[in-house]
Amino acid sequence: MSDQSVNQAIFSLERPLDVVVMAAGKGTRMKSRIPKVLQRLAGKPLLSHVLDTATQLKARSAVVITGHGAAEVEAAVSSVSGKLAVKFVRQEPQLGTGHAVQQAVPALADDGLVVVLSGDVPLTHADTLIALMACVRQTGSTSDGLALLTLDMPNPTGYGRIVRNPQGDSVLAIVEQKDASPEQLTIQEVYSGIMAVPAKQLKTWLAKLDNQNAQGEYYLTDVVKWAVADGVKVVAHRIQDELQVTGVNSPQQLAQLERAYQLQKANELMLQGVRLADPARFDVRGELHCDADVEIDVNCVFEGQVHLGEGVRIGPNCVIANARIAAGAAIHAFTHIDGEKLGVTVGEGALVGPFARLRPGAELGPEVHIGNFVEVKNSTLAKGAKANHLAYLGDATVGERVNYGAGSITANYDGANKHRTIIENDVHVGSNCVLIAPVTLGAGGTVGGGSTISKNTEPGALSVARGKQVSIANWKRPQKTPKAK
Ligand code: UD1
Ligand code: MG
Repeated sequence: MSDQSVNQAIFSLERPLDVVVMAAGKGTRMKSRIPKVLQRLAGKPLLSHVLDTATQLKARSAVVITGHGAAEVEAAVSSVSGKLAVKFVRQEPQLGTGHAVQQAVPALADDGLVVVLSGDVPLTHADTLIALMACVRQTGSTSDGLALLTLDMPNPTGYGRIVRNPQGDSVLAIVEQKDASPEQLTIQEVYSGIMAVPAKQLKTWLAKLDNQNAQGEYYLTDVVKWAVADGVKVVAHRIQDELQVTGVNSPQQLAQLERAYQLQKANELMLQGVRLADPARFDVRGELHCDADVEIDVNCVFEGQVHLGEGVRIGPNCVIANARIAAGAAIHAFTHIDGEKLGVTVGEGALVGPFARLRPGAELGPEVHIGNFVEVKNSTLAKGAKANHLAYLGDATVGERVNYGAGSITANYDGANKHRTIIENDVHVGSNCVLIAPVTLGAGGTVGGGSTISKNTEPGALSVARGKQVSIANWKRPQKTPKAK
């Protein structure tokens, strides 16, 4: 949904939006020490997905109700909530969803529109919530009303049932499973757990809740009854897509939602023209931007911010995090790239892998080749430089067309400090060399295989630093001593 259409939609509501997120529940069925709302979907806590949706809706504030693991939840999300003003209120003990939202009342301004969400329902679309909010206005009466997000379920067991008026155009009550009559139990339309309501009215109805029901809890869903008693029309915004309102209660449900989310991401990319070998074996845990004609083979994982330029090909089983890969580059099978905070860049037409590892600060120029079992960290390689086999480049500046031999390493760490290695244009480093930093290899020079280089080398020179080969003719190998009997 575009920024502009969000702005228009929110403006037409004539009220600032305040989101209330219920996140106090225990999540017993997760069988985990981690609070349920901090379990991860697509690499991000469930609660952060919900707060991101609130951010997309340009909410004025989000009030998060915490209880189980409150301190941990508060610490985890306050650091990731970005632009949104997040307030926390604690609910101790947990006496039901109505009691939960009652705790938020002091944090809610009277002029706002409140949307109630659950911290364990991560995949609600922003435009679904905008449509729900619009229903608050379209209740037909002069004052704003209460809008419920509902859907039909073939098996509604466990959910609150939507009881409509005889005309079917408004809602009279939500009846919880345990309080429902046999007739009500046959209703397939259920309450999703999400509602939109002006703050002022919500507050008056919340004050009237009691716990006289089968579970002895304060039900948020009873606000419907009080709205109806006040003559306020309650409307349902009925959707089809169950995933948008599915909550996570068990590891199975978490995995199901993860696959559904990944399939959605895969479809979005394929609609843009990205060719995925198998959308069921593809994972994005962050943001992946692709230009035209990108091909991605099976079992690749993308994390953080990744940008793939035109015509980039990614082989099977690659993990790529926080990297920009320029047009025409190919990343071959089993390559691991993680730019972390510094990022990694791969230049146009470069070839990386199979089995390569690019770490933070690796900057590969155009047409660079990095081959199998080569590790690059905090190093720049200029156009056409090659390190094709079994090598380490750390804290190095590598010039154009340099050839860096198999088994060579930069000894960049003296046990206390890191130092740089500078390899000027057209240098040829033989196999199995150790370059002890700080050191500079002069342009066009050659380093003989097996050398340990601790002093700068002259441009154009051959530098060799290893023991001289000696030959001892007719050498007799030692014989095995016979065992004593
Ligand atoms: C609730 C609805 C039900 C709806 C269903 C949809 C009520 C009374 N019922 O039922 O109509 O069909 O959601 O999933 O609201 N929580 C707190 N504090 C509490 C209790 C719950 O923060 O004291 C949180 C939970 O962590 C969870 C959310 O509120 O995130 C919903 O609670 P849950 O117990 O799952 O409600 P249901 O009984 O499923
Ligand atoms: Mg539930």
